[in-house]
Amino acid sequence: MNSVVSYKDRGNYGNSSYRGNCSGKIIRDLILQFFPNSKPKKFIEIFSGGGTGRDVAKELGINNSIHLDLINGWDALVDEIPSGSDLIFSHPPYWDIIKYQYQRNSYNANDLSNQMDYEDFIKKLNKVNAKIYCSLVRGGRHAILIGDIRKQGKYYSIIKDMNWYGDLESHIIKIQHNCISDNRVYSGNFIPIRHEHLLIFKKREIWIVNIKQSTEIRANILYSNTATWRDIIQAAIQSVNGKATTEQLYKILKNSKKARNNNFVREKIRQTLNANKNFKKINNEWILCIE
Ligand SMILES: C[S@@+](CC[C@H](N)C(=O)[O-])C[C@H]1O[C@@H](n2cnc3c(N)ncnc32)[C@H](O)[C@@H]1O
Repeated sequence: MNSVVSYKDRGNYGNSSYRGNCSGKIIRDLILQFFPNSKPKKFIEIFSGGGTGRDVAKELGINNSIHLDLINGWDALVDEIPSGSDLIFSHPPYWDIIKYQYQRNSYNANDLSNQMDYEDFIKKLNKVNAKIYCSLVRGGRHAILIGDIRKQGKYYSIIKDMNWYGDLESHIIKIQHNCISDNRVYSGNFIPIRHEHLLIFKKREIWIVNIKQSTEIRANILYSNTATWRDIIQAAIQSVNGKATTEQLYKILKNSKKARNNNFVREKIRQTLNANKNFKKINNEWILCIE
């Protein structure tokens, strides 16, 4: 298997009309990669949807595999993973991009593809991923296939926002083909998403789990140790609609981290304004000049 994979056709696996299904070839290659001369003792597929993994297992002569999804009555948030395993493949919903209640013709409150806040989706996904990790035997792997999303102009990186359980062994980029969004015409200028991520986590220890979490911090550069005088003067001019007198800038910046460490704040502001080509004086006011 390479670190970039592209499956133009999905192979003859599973229900080809199940929305958001994945290529069976990716599951096949995963199994063959990690079990080149044997079969996994127990292969489990979580979020098995239209039966792609079941058909792959059948083709490879694996007849004790387990395939779990709401569509066959198994709820990832409530039900136990019924067996230990040495390989789990999971392919969760990409938040609410495809709503699987319409695939099943029934609503389930625990469906991860229901309309919900992104934070709730991530919490639920974390719960399932933790559960998957705990169920693995030592040396076992969890391979999770998941994409990024853009919604109302905002980019969401699920792999960055979810917790990582265990040791990352590989990060494979899968080129995405045949998205419904390929045929849509969007307004605005953005780079379309044409890839998904396949992360492979290995359980190396019996008891201890390495968990990686990402946190978002909203920091104010006015109080930053890193921002320079140029940076905060630029921000100050922008904060008052692009024009400011030296005295206005002083008032905005007098409590900044930079000012707290300087006994000559007015002079420093004046010196930076005069010395930096990014600032231009028109009449009595300073404007930005970034060219
Ligand atoms: C991206 S699809 C999987 C598609 C599958 N890999 C295939 O090739 O057909 C995600 C699946 O997650 C299932 N799902 C969503 N919430 C679930 C839950 N709480 N428990 C179990 N399955 C769930 C949906 O029913 C859907 O089939």
